[in-house]
Amino acid sequence: MSDVTVIGLGPMGSAMARTFLAAGHDVTVWNRTASKADPLVAEGARRAAEPVTGELLVISQISYQAMYDSLGEARLDGRTVVNLSSGTPAELREAARWVAERGGTLITAGIMVPPPGIGQPGAYTFYSGPKEALDRHAGTLEALSAVTYVGEDPGLAMMFYQAQLFVFWSSLTSFMYAAALLGTAGVRPDALVPFVRELHADLASDGPMGYIKILGEELGSGVYPGDENSLHMQAVGMGHVVETLRAAGLETTVPEALHRLFARADAEGRGDEGIGTVVESIRKP
Ligand SMILES: NC(=O)c1ccc[n+]([C@@H]2O[C@H](COP(=O)([O-])OP(=O)(O)OC[C@H]3O[C@@H](n4cnc5c(N)ncnc54)[C@H](OP(=O)(O)O)[C@@H]3O)[C@@H](O)[C@H]2O)c1
Repeated sequence: MSDVTVIGLGPMGSAMARTFLAAGHDVTVWNRTASKADPLVAEGARRAAEPVTGELLVISQISYQAMYDSLGEARLDGRTVVNLSSGTPAELREAARWVAERGGTLITAGIMVPPPGIGQPGAYTFYSGPKEALDRHAGTLEALSAVTYVGEDPGLAMMFYQAQLFVFWSSLTSFMYAAALLGTAGVRPDALVPFVRELHADLASDGPMGYIKILGEELGSGVYPGDENSLHMQAVGMGHVVETLRAAGLETTVPEALHRLFARADAEGRGDEGIGTVVESIRKP
């Protein structure tokens, strides 16, 4: 019997199967479009006629619906299903019940690297669900990335994954607005790169600009000192950013949303506090 069956052979699943093979595992592969298994079979994987093959099923597909479509009515007795697909926490919780009804155990996961990062140093994956089942297969899963267990609730892996993705996507989108703005003055996008790199390093530091750590503490304590840089001052400044982008002929959806949020926290009477007070408005829509 093979060590692991990889279900879903898009860019991620194919890279996972390849990484398991490189780590010396006996790998079975299945994909809805069967031809995508061909290169992996040429590299030593076994082709499965049915997805439910072996004890450990590792799934990487576009959605949880794809898992339902693929596994159909098959029994899953004694099998561990590790699903690394995107979904919502509610979908993951429902999927855990669905797998359990069929006799299997679901471990939910969110992998934090793109295909070339799989199996590379620094890669990690959030896992949630039954810890004992994860521990049993951690030795195999470690081929893909570090195994980061975040709790029993099956929805948690996706909450951690989406939390990180939101920070990732919003940071990149801000960079695109910034580069587009400078572009309207004829500045090349790469002129901004050293400054943005520095900013990100500062944000992650323990120094005075180390806002990730600072906010981590403030959001826990509910105290947001604003003596030196008040939210009101930043709400006004963000309004100027929106005006500048608009005057430069750019679209302003994201900056306007940010300004609305800051202005709301200010209007709610917390303008003298620091930027961390914005979380109070986020928590009470
Ligand atoms: N790519 C990344 O950088 C990255 C990074 C982290 C996480 N992820 C997550 O990893 C998952 C896989 O991503 P991906 O980039 O490999 O490609 P993808 O386009 O999200 O998924 C492709 C896979 O889903 C299968 N699929 C789609 N609908 C299906 C259905 N109804 N029934 C059965 N199979 C179905 C496809 O089968 P066919 O080949 O038959 O179409 C293919 O195997 C996603 O949930 C994604 O959010 C991706």
